[in-house]
Amino acid sequence: MYKILEAKQLATEIKLFVVDAPKVAHACKPGQFIILKINEQGERIPLTIYDYDSEKGTISIIFQEVGKTTRQLGRLKAGDELQDFVGPLGKPIEVTGSHKRIICVGGGVGVAPVYPKARALKNSGAEVVAIIGARSKDLIILEEEMKAVSNELYVCTDDGSYGEHGFVTQVLERLLQSQQKPDLVIAIGPLPMMKACCHVTKKFDTPTLVSLNSIMVDGTGMCGSCRVTEGGQTKFACVDGPGFDGHLVDFNELMQRQVRFVEEEKVAMERYEKMEGVKENGSCCLKNDS
Ligand SMILES: Cc1cc2nc3c(=O)[nH]c(=O)nc-3n(C[C@H](O)[C@H](O)[C@H](O)COP(=O)(O)OP(=O)(O)OC[C@H]3O[C@@H](n4cnc5c(N)ncnc54)[C@H](O)[C@@H]3O)c2cc1C
Ligand code: FES
Repeated sequence: MYKILEAKQLATEIKLFVVDAPKVAHACKPGQFIILKINEQGERIPLTIYDYDSEKGTISIIFQEVGKTTRQLGRLKAGDELQDFVGPLGKPIEVTGSHKRIICVGGGVGVAPVYPKARALKNSGAEVVAIIGARSKDLIILEEEMKAVSNELYVCTDDGSYGEHGFVTQVLERLLQSQQKPDLVIAIGPLPMMKACCHVTKKFDTPTLVSLNSIMVDGTGMCGSCRVTEGGQTKFACVDGPGFDGHLVDFNELMQRQVRFVEEEKVAMERYEKMEGVKENGSCCLKNDS
Protein backbone atom coordinates (compact mmCIF):
# COMPACT_ATOMS: atom_id res chain seq x y z
CA MET A 1 0.00 0.00 0.00
CA TYR A 2 1.16 3.55 -0.73
CA LYS A 3 0.36 6.21 1.86
CA ILE A 4 -0.74 9.73 0.91
CA LEU A 5 1.46 11.95 3.08
CA GLU A 6 0.08 15.29 1.96
CA ALA A 7 -3.05 16.37 0.07
CA LYS A 8 -3.38 19.95 -1.13
CA GLN A 9 -6.02 21.76 -3.21
CA LEU A 10 -4.25 23.82 -5.92
CA ALA A 11 -7.28 25.11 -7.82
CA THR A 12 -10.91 24.22 -8.47
CA GLU A 13 -10.92 20.42 -8.81
CA ILE A 14 -7.10 20.25 -9.12
CA LYS A 15 -5.17 18.58 -6.30
CA LEU A 16 -1.60 17.72 -5.38
CA PHE A 17 -0.75 14.54 -3.48
CA VAL A 18 2.63 13.62 -2.00
CA VAL A 19 2.79 9.82 -1.90
CA ASP A 20 5.21 7.56 -0.04
CA ALA A 21 6.71 5.45 -2.85
CA PRO A 22 10.48 5.01 -2.23
CA LYS A 23 11.20 2.58 -5.11
CA VAL A 24 9.60 4.88 -7.68
CA ALA A 25 11.29 7.94 -6.17
CA HIS A 26 14.73 6.33 -6.40
CA ALA A 27 14.36 5.35 -10.05
CA CYS A 28 12.35 8.16 -11.69
CA LYS A 29 13.44 10.96 -14.02
CA PRO A 30 11.64 14.07 -15.35
CA GLY A 31 9.01 13.24 -17.99
CA GLN A 32 8.02 9.85 -16.58
CA PHE A 33 4.67 8.84 -15.13
CA ILE A 34 3.07 6.35 -12.75
CA ILE A 35 -0.10 4.26 -12.98
CA LEU A 36 -2.14 4.08 -9.80
CA LYS A 37 -5.12 2.11 -8.60
CA ILE A 38 -7.09 3.40 -5.63
CA ASN A 39 -8.37 0.00 -4.44
CA GLU A 40 -8.65 -3.62 -5.55
CA GLN A 41 -11.71 -2.93 -7.75
CA GLY A 42 -10.35 0.39 -9.03
CA GLU A 43 -9.44 1.47 -12.56
CA ARG A 44 -5.77 2.03 -13.41
CA ILE A 45 -5.02 5.67 -14.26
CA PRO A 46 -1.76 7.24 -15.50
CA LEU A 47 -0.50 10.47 -13.88
CA THR A 48 2.73 12.36 -14.53
CA ILE A 49 5.39 12.51 -11.83
CA TYR A 50 5.28 16.22 -11.03
CA ASP A 51 8.10 16.10 -8.48
CA TYR A 52 10.09 13.56 -6.49
CA ASP A 53 12.38 13.42 -3.49
CA SER A 54 14.64 10.36 -3.63
CA GLU A 55 15.93 10.96 -0.09
CA LYS A 56 12.48 11.09 1.47
CA GLY A 57 11.20 8.45 -0.97
CA THR A 58 8.23 10.55 -2.07
CA ILE A 59 6.47 11.25 -5.37
CA SER A 60 4.21 14.24 -6.02
CA ILE A 61 1.33 14.01 -8.48
CA ILE A 62 -1.13 16.67 -9.60
CA PHE A 63 -4.50 15.67 -11.00
CA GLN A 64 -7.70 17.24 -12.23
CA GLU A 65 -11.03 15.65 -11.37
CA VAL A 66 -12.44 14.87 -14.81
CA GLY A 67 -14.20 11.54 -14.30
CA LYS A 68 -15.03 8.75 -11.87
CA THR A 69 -11.56 7.70 -10.77
CA THR A 70 -10.02 11.16 -10.48
CA ARG A 71 -13.13 12.30 -8.57
CA GLN A 72 -12.78 9.34 -6.20
CA LEU A 73 -9.05 10.09 -5.83
CA GLY A 74 -9.88 13.69 -4.95
CA ARG A 75 -11.97 12.48 -2.00
CA LEU A 76 -8.90 10.89 -0.36
CA LYS A 77 -7.00 12.65 2.39
CA ALA A 78 -3.52 12.60 3.94
CA GLY A 79 -3.18 9.29 5.78
CA ASP A 80 -5.27 7.31 3.25
CA GLU A 81 -3.56 4.61 1.18
CA LEU A 82 -3.51 3.66 -2.50
CA GLN A 83 -3.58 0.01 -3.54
CA ASP A 84 -1.10 0.27 -6.45
CA PHE A 85 1.42 2.91 -7.52
CA VAL A 86 3.45 1.50 -10.43
CA GLY A 87 6.40 3.27 -12.01
CA PRO A 88 8.41 4.99 -13.19
CA LEU A 89 6.90 4.39 -16.65
CA GLY A 90 7.59 5.92 -20.06
CA LYS A 91 10.69 7.55 -21.43
CA PRO A 92 12.21 10.48 -19.54
CA ILE A 93 12.94 13.73 -21.34
CA GLU A 94 16.44 13.86 -22.85
CA VAL A 95 18.48 16.55 -21.13
CA THR A 96 21.76 16.67 -23.03
CA GLY A 97 22.65 20.30 -22.43
CA SER A 98 22.44 20.91 -26.19
CA HIS A 99 19.29 23.03 -25.94
CA LYS A 100 20.12 26.69 -25.44
CA ARG A 101 16.66 28.29 -25.57
CA ILE A 102 13.33 26.60 -24.99
CA ILE A 103 9.73 27.75 -24.88
CA CYS A 104 7.59 25.65 -22.51
CA VAL A 105 3.81 25.90 -22.95
CA GLY A 106 1.38 24.46 -20.39
CA GLY A 107 -2.40 24.49 -20.71
CA GLY A 108 -4.66 23.78 -17.70
CA VAL A 109 -3.42 20.81 -15.67
CA GLY A 110 -0.81 20.35 -18.45
CA VAL A 111 1.35 22.82 -16.51
CA ALA A 112 2.07 19.97 -14.05
CA PRO A 113 3.88 17.77 -16.62
CA VAL A 114 5.62 20.85 -18.09
CA TYR A 115 7.15 21.85 -14.76
CA PRO A 116 9.67 18.98 -14.23
CA LYS A 117 10.86 19.31 -17.84
CA ALA A 118 11.29 23.09 -17.55
CA ARG A 119 13.20 22.65 -14.30
CA ALA A 120 15.51 19.95 -15.71
CA LEU A 121 16.26 22.03 -18.81
CA LYS A 122 16.85 25.19 -16.77
CA ASN A 123 19.24 23.25 -14.50
CA SER A 124 21.09 22.05 -17.62
CA GLY A 125 21.82 25.69 -18.48
CA ALA A 126 19.07 26.40 -21.03
CA GLU A 127 17.19 29.68 -21.19
CA VAL A 128 13.55 28.80 -20.47
CA VAL A 129 10.61 30.95 -21.53
CA ALA A 130 7.32 29.69 -20.08
CA ILE A 131 3.74 30.31 -21.14
CA ILE A 132 0.95 29.01 -18.92
CA GLY A 133 -2.76 29.33 -19.52
CA ALA A 134 -6.15 28.16 -18.33
CA ARG A 135 -9.83 28.82 -18.98
CA SER A 136 -10.02 31.24 -16.04
CA LYS A 137 -8.08 32.58 -13.03
CA ASP A 138 -9.31 29.87 -10.64
CA LEU A 139 -7.76 27.17 -12.85
CA ILE A 140 -4.25 28.65 -13.08
CA ILE A 141 -1.78 26.42 -11.21
CA LEU A 142 1.94 26.50 -10.32
CA GLU A 143 2.51 30.13 -11.31
CA GLU A 144 5.18 30.71 -8.65
CA GLU A 145 6.84 27.34 -9.30
CA MET A 146 7.03 28.03 -13.05
CA LYS A 147 8.40 31.51 -12.38
CA ALA A 148 11.20 29.93 -10.33
CA VAL A 149 12.32 27.66 -13.20
CA SER A 150 12.02 30.10 -16.09
CA ASN A 151 13.73 33.26 -17.31
CA GLU A 152 10.44 34.76 -18.49
CA LEU A 153 6.88 33.74 -17.62
CA TYR A 154 3.71 34.68 -19.51
CA VAL A 155 0.28 33.92 -18.02
CA CYS A 156 -2.99 34.04 -19.94
CA THR A 157 -6.63 33.07 -19.46
CA ASP A 158 -9.31 32.34 -22.08
CA ASP A 159 -11.79 34.68 -20.37
CA GLY A 160 -9.29 37.44 -19.46
CA SER A 161 -9.92 37.04 -15.71
CA TYR A 162 -6.14 36.92 -15.07
CA GLY A 163 -3.00 37.74 -17.04
CA GLU A 164 -3.29 38.29 -20.75
CA HIS A 165 -6.71 37.76 -22.34
CA GLY A 166 -6.47 34.90 -24.85
CA PHE A 167 -4.98 31.52 -25.65
CA VAL A 168 -1.42 30.29 -25.06
CA THR A 169 -1.07 29.93 -28.85
CA GLN A 170 -1.41 33.71 -29.30
CA VAL A 171 1.46 34.38 -26.89
CA LEU A 172 3.49 31.58 -28.49
CA GLU A 173 3.03 33.02 -31.99
CA ARG A 174 3.95 36.52 -30.80
CA LEU A 175 7.15 35.28 -29.12
CA LEU A 176 8.14 33.23 -32.18
CA GLN A 177 7.67 36.35 -34.31
CA SER A 178 9.42 38.83 -32.04
CA GLN A 179 12.12 36.96 -30.13
CA GLN A 180 15.17 34.88 -30.92
CA LYS A 181 14.14 31.50 -32.33
CA PRO A 182 14.10 28.72 -29.69
CA ASP A 183 15.74 25.29 -30.32
CA LEU A 184 12.66 23.57 -29.01
CA VAL A 185 9.05 24.20 -27.97
CA ILE A 186 7.47 21.88 -25.39
CA ALA A 187 3.67 22.00 -25.41
CA ILE A 188 1.51 20.03 -22.96
CA GLY A 189 -2.21 20.31 -22.30
CA PRO A 190 -5.52 19.30 -23.85
CA LEU A 191 -5.19 17.69 -27.32
CA PRO A 192 -6.73 20.66 -29.22
CA MET A 193 -4.24 22.98 -27.50
CA MET A 194 -1.23 20.81 -28.39
CA LYS A 195 -2.48 20.49 -31.97
CA ALA A 196 -2.90 24.29 -32.21
CA CYS A 197 0.59 24.88 -30.76
CA CYS A 198 2.09 22.52 -33.37
CA HIS A 199 0.23 24.38 -36.12
CA VAL A 200 1.91 27.62 -34.95
CA THR A 201 5.42 26.17 -34.51
CA LYS A 202 5.29 24.46 -37.90
CA LYS A 203 4.97 27.90 -39.54
CA PHE A 204 8.24 28.87 -37.81
CA ASP A 205 9.88 25.51 -38.47
CA THR A 206 10.54 25.03 -34.74
CA PRO A 207 10.84 21.46 -33.36
CA THR A 208 8.01 20.75 -30.93
CA LEU A 209 7.68 18.09 -28.25
CA VAL A 210 4.18 17.16 -27.04
CA SER A 211 3.19 14.75 -24.25
CA LEU A 212 0.29 12.52 -25.30
CA ASN A 213 -2.38 11.53 -22.79
CA SER A 214 -3.81 8.63 -24.78
CA ILE A 215 -5.98 6.20 -22.84
CA MET A 216 -3.80 3.62 -21.10
CA VAL A 217 -4.52 0.26 -19.51
CA ASP A 218 -1.40 -1.80 -18.75
CA GLY A 219 1.24 0.88 -19.35
CA THR A 220 3.77 -1.68 -20.59
CA GLY A 221 3.16 -1.81 -24.36
CA MET A 222 1.09 -5.01 -24.26
CA CYS A 223 -2.58 -3.99 -24.62
CA GLY A 224 -2.43 -1.50 -27.50
CA SER A 225 -4.85 0.94 -25.86
CA CYS A 226 -2.48 3.92 -26.03
CA ARG A 227 -1.69 3.45 -29.75
CA VAL A 228 -0.77 6.67 -31.57
CA THR A 229 0.57 7.41 -35.04
CA GLU A 230 3.78 9.42 -35.35
CA GLY A 231 5.11 10.06 -38.86
CA GLY A 232 2.92 7.25 -40.26
CA GLN A 233 4.33 4.72 -37.78
CA THR A 234 2.41 3.05 -34.98
CA LYS A 235 3.77 3.88 -31.54
CA PHE A 236 2.61 3.19 -28.00
CA ALA A 237 2.51 6.25 -25.76
CA CYS A 238 3.30 4.22 -22.62
CA VAL A 239 6.63 2.82 -23.81
CA ASP A 240 7.63 4.97 -26.83
CA GLY A 241 6.39 8.19 -25.17
CA PRO A 242 4.62 9.98 -23.67
CA GLY A 243 6.79 12.61 -25.44
CA PHE A 244 6.48 12.74 -29.27
CA ASP A 245 7.40 14.98 -32.18
CA GLY A 246 4.28 17.14 -32.38
CA HIS A 247 4.74 17.86 -36.08
CA LEU A 248 4.47 14.14 -36.86
CA VAL A 249 1.59 13.15 -34.55
CA ASP A 250 -1.78 12.31 -36.11
CA PHE A 251 -3.87 14.40 -33.69
CA ASN A 252 -7.16 13.77 -35.51
CA GLU A 253 -6.82 10.00 -35.08
CA LEU A 254 -5.86 10.45 -31.41
CA MET A 255 -8.87 12.69 -30.75
CA GLN A 256 -11.16 10.04 -32.23
CA ARG A 257 -9.55 7.28 -30.14
CA GLN A 258 -9.82 9.43 -27.00
CA VAL A 259 -13.65 9.44 -27.06
CA ARG A 260 -14.15 5.71 -27.60
CA PHE A 261 -15.30 5.05 -24.01
CA VAL A 262 -17.39 8.20 -23.52
CA GLU A 263 -20.61 6.24 -22.79
CA GLU A 264 -18.90 3.93 -20.28
CA GLU A 265 -17.18 6.92 -18.61
CA LYS A 266 -20.56 8.69 -18.28
CA VAL A 267 -22.23 5.64 -16.76
CA ALA A 268 -19.33 5.10 -14.30
CA MET A 269 -19.49 8.75 -13.21
CA GLU A 270 -23.28 8.70 -12.78
CA ARG A 271 -23.08 5.48 -10.75
CA TYR A 272 -20.33 6.97 -8.57
CA GLU A 273 -22.22 10.25 -8.02
CA LYS A 274 -25.32 8.26 -7.03
CA MET A 275 -23.24 6.28 -4.52
CA GLU A 276 -21.70 9.48 -3.15
CA GLY A 277 -25.17 11.03 -2.88
CA VAL A 278 -26.45 8.01 -0.93
CA LYS A 279 -23.45 8.25 1.42
CA GLU A 280 -23.88 12.02 1.91
CA ASN A 281 -27.63 11.67 2.53
CA GLY A 282 -26.92 8.81 4.91
CA SER A 283 -24.49 10.83 7.02
CA CYS A 284 -26.82 13.85 6.81
CA CYS A 285 -29.69 11.73 8.24
CA LEU A 286 -27.43 10.47 11.01
CA LYS A 287 -26.49 14.07 11.84
CA ASN A 288 -30.16 15.09 11.91
CA ASP A 289 -31.03 12.10 14.03
CA SER A 290 -28.41 12.85 16.64
C1 LIG B 1 1.07 9.55 -19.59
C2 LIG B 1 -0.10 10.27 -19.01
C3 LIG B 1 0.10 11.21 -18.02
C4 LIG B 1 -0.99 11.88 -17.48
N1 LIG B 1 -0.74 12.80 -16.50
C5 LIG B 1 -1.76 13.45 -15.94
C6 LIG B 1 -1.52 14.39 -14.87
O1 LIG B 1 -0.38 14.61 -14.44
N2 LIG B 1 -2.61 15.01 -14.32
C7 LIG B 1 -3.90 14.76 -14.77
O2 LIG B 1 -4.82 15.37 -14.22
N3 LIG B 1 -4.15 13.90 -15.76
C8 LIG B 1 -3.13 13.22 -16.34
N4 LIG B 1 -3.39 12.29 -17.34
C9 LIG B 1 -4.80 12.01 -17.70
C10 LIG B 1 -5.47 11.10 -16.66
O3 LIG B 1 -4.87 9.82 -16.72
C11 LIG B 1 -6.98 10.99 -16.93
O4 LIG B 1 -7.56 12.25 -16.67
C12 LIG B 1 -7.66 9.94 -16.05
O5 LIG B 1 -7.25 8.65 -16.44
C13 LIG B 1 -9.16 10.07 -16.17
O6 LIG B 1 -9.78 9.02 -15.42
P1 LIG B 1 -11.25 9.22 -14.83
O7 LIG B 1 -11.81 7.88 -14.48
O8 LIG B 1 -11.25 10.23 -13.75
O9 LIG B 1 -12.06 9.84 -16.02
P2 LIG B 1 -12.80 9.09 -17.21
O10 LIG B 1 -14.26 9.19 -16.97
O11 LIG B 1 -12.23 7.74 -17.44
O12 LIG B 1 -12.39 10.00 -18.43
C14 LIG B 1 -12.52 11.38 -18.44
C15 LIG B 1 -11.64 11.93 -19.57
O13 LIG B 1 -10.26 11.49 -19.40
C16 LIG B 1 -9.80 10.72 -20.56
N5 LIG B 1 -9.17 9.47 -20.07
C17 LIG B 1 -9.80 8.41 -19.51
N6 LIG B 1 -8.95 7.43 -19.15
C18 LIG B 1 -7.71 7.87 -19.50
C19 LIG B 1 -6.42 7.32 -19.39
N7 LIG B 1 -6.20 6.12 -18.83
N8 LIG B 1 -5.39 8.05 -19.88
C20 LIG B 1 -5.60 9.24 -20.40
N9 LIG B 1 -6.81 9.83 -20.50
C21 LIG B 1 -7.85 9.17 -20.08
C22 LIG B 1 -11.05 10.39 -21.36
O14 LIG B 1 -10.79 10.46 -22.74
C23 LIG B 1 -12.04 11.44 -20.96
O15 LIG B 1 -11.94 12.55 -21.79
C24 LIG B 1 -2.33 11.61 -17.93
C25 LIG B 1 -2.52 10.66 -18.93
C26 LIG B 1 -1.42 10.01 -19.48
C27 LIG B 1 -1.63 8.99 -20.55
S1 FES C 1 -1.19 1.20 -22.19
FE1 FES C 1 -1.26 -0.75 -23.10
S2 FES C 1 0.09 -0.58 -24.77
FE2 FES C 1 0.26 1.33 -23.77
